Amino acid sequence: MALTKEQLVNAHRAIGVIDSGVGGLTVVKEISRNLPHESIIYFGDTARMPYGPRSYQEVRGFVFQMIEFLRHQEIKMLVVACNSATAAGLSYYQEACDLPVLGVIEPGVRAALSHSSSGHIGVIGTTGTINSSEYEKALRRQNGDLHIASKACPLFVLLVENNLVETPEARQVAHEYLDPLVRENIDALILGCTHYPLMSELIKEVVGPSVKLINSAKEIAAEIGGILKRDKTANPLSYEKPRYRFFVSGNPSSFEEVGSKLLSRKIKAYQVTLPSTS
Ligand code: DGL
Repeated sequence: MALTKEQLVNAHRAIGVIDSGVGGLTVVKEISRNLPHESIIYFGDTARMPYGPRSYQEVRGFVFQMIEFLRHQEIKMLVVACNSATAAGLSYYQEACDLPVLGVIEPGVRAALSHSSSGHIGVIGTTGTINSSEYEKALRRQNGDLHIASKACPLFVLLVENNLVETPEARQVAHEYLDPLVRENIDALILGCTHYPLMSELIKEVVGPSVKLINSAKEIAAEIGGILKRDKTANPLSYEKPRYRFFVSGNPSSFEEVGSKLLSRKIKAYQVTLPSTS
């Protein structure tokens, strides 16, 4: 059935994606792979990252500021591509927005359950995400008999944001965090932070080939596709080149460097100052 003019205008809008820094770009990468006609507007709150050690209330305040910014850019959907922000209160963002708002925890849980045969599942994330137990609760809702081993890995985000993943120090830190999980005989490890796929080679080496790394980005991209289809909001102008725009609250240079490497294209990010929330 043909779209009305209003539906067409909405379908032509971009998907909004937010994170505290570069991590959400791992989700952008999967969206661009799966939904190549969709435009994306990204906001990385690099001036205030990491979110992991902050209180849930503070993180929610930051998220609402990014939502406000993106709403002025006219988006049709919002992806909270940050586990810490999702754990801090996905339902608050969903209640406040009249758009579909997706988080990253449920898709990661689904992917882990489909890959684990032993039911021994590891979860790594920021301190905020692990302390919230949102992964554990979501996993147990699906299967009460799972053996779940969780570990906060706060230094990983800093290694990624500062481009230090390929250093001996990073390897040592990875062993300290991950060796105890390997001893729990896990066969699937949820990368419960969107920054972690950016260091998946190192993580894979440390945990060994018998542990499947779960990156929820692929699952989210599939979910976004399903929602766009259901709501008839997929961009129908498939001959058009999608537009990607990147905004950050801090200095754009390191974001551009890491982002260009990840997305295999040169990206330009614009700095936007967000007001203080206190
Ligand atoms: N990438 C984020 C996450 O998925 C946040 C990292 C941080 O800012 O601490 O949790």
